[in-house]
Amino acid sequence: MIVLGVESSCDECSVALVRDGREILGHVIATQIEIHKPYEGVVPELASRKHMEWIVPVFRDALKQAGMGADAIEGVAATDKPGLAGSLQVGFCFAKSFAWSRGLDFVGVNHIQAHLYAPLMERTLDYPFLGLLVSGGHTIICKVNGIDDFEVLGASIDDAVGEAFDKVAKHYGLGYPGGKVIDQLARTGDPQAFQFPYPNLYKGNHPYDVSYSGLKNAAVNQLDIFWNGKSEKTMENIAASFERIAVDTLVKKTVKAAEDYGLKTIVAGGGVAANSYLRQKLGSLPGVDVYFPPMVLCADNAAMIAGLGYHLLIRGDRSGWGANISPRVSGFRKSYP
Ligand code: KG4
Ligand code: ZN
Repeated sequence: MIVLGVESSCDECSVALVRDGREILGHVIATQIEIHKPYEGVVPELASRKHMEWIVPVFRDALKQAGMGADAIEGVAATDKPGLAGSLQVGFCFAKSFAWSRGLDFVGVNHIQAHLYAPLMERTLDYPFLGLLVSGGHTIICKVNGIDDFEVLGASIDDAVGEAFDKVAKHYGLGYPGGKVIDQLARTGDPQAFQFPYPNLYKGNHPYDVSYSGLKNAAVNQLDIFWNGKSEKTMENIAASFERIAVDTLVKKTVKAAEDYGLKTIVAGGGVAANSYLRQKLGSLPGVDVYFPPMVLCADNAAMIAGLGYHLLIRGDRSGWGANISPRVSGFRKSYP
């Protein structure tokens, strides 16, 4: 079954044609990075306007890449949550209208679930496994029982990890998005130059939760307090020291959750899963199998939406013609008193 997937939740305008949830026939990711760069972050109004302009050409390009006509499409899936409302609406309405006009089945896909499906496009894994979803909007440690059956064990109580990378980069004028730049700078930096603090959330009912606002604040406002007194205060050293704590925190919590729940397989997904230090550190853990998506499927993309959409469609899930998007998604955030 060839499924058309559409993703427009933030600043990537993406369309994919995927056969049987795995085989990518055509896949275009048109990024708006250059458009938002001058503002050092995504401007929602601009993002939705660009999606309006781009969605049809991107769809055409994907068909061209696949070497097929629109008649070959047998089912349709689009991101329906979470994300920027105006942006989500463009891709979702486009996909829903296409399905309606062609009499095809249509299903809305949860973008967070799709990020953790991305590594499964290359292999089959047994459930349950430990999921680590790390993106610009979410940091979630969960037990994944099935394609859309997630038990959230831990989450960030404040900033998402990608957001912390972006905010530190923005403060130092490194541009947007910041994760990739910090990753690159960190490769030549001294990770011990600054001894930034680990968030201490081990107490009470939060053994797998993380926090990034303190670390971000330390890396931005408290360099002198945490400086080791020897290394130079270069951007490379700040990046490497920040990245060390940001990633080690994630790895510690992920390992603890995997051990406590007896899970021997860890699957990571989301934009931050492209981070080289995270890939190296998590990937070299003894006694567990760790899977990352290929780099192209880490950040927002329509292939993962078509891939997960296929499984939802063949099991009979459908979204009605009155279906709508949702900027937020319940069950993926923990609430605190
Ligand atoms: O999954 P994604 O593309 O969008 C959301 O769903 O949020 O994730 C984007 C996030 C941004 O915060 C970006 O800075 C971060 O992923 N990111 C990285 C790297 N590449 C992208 N963070 C750390 N290291 C990277 N190499
Ligand atoms: Zn994403």
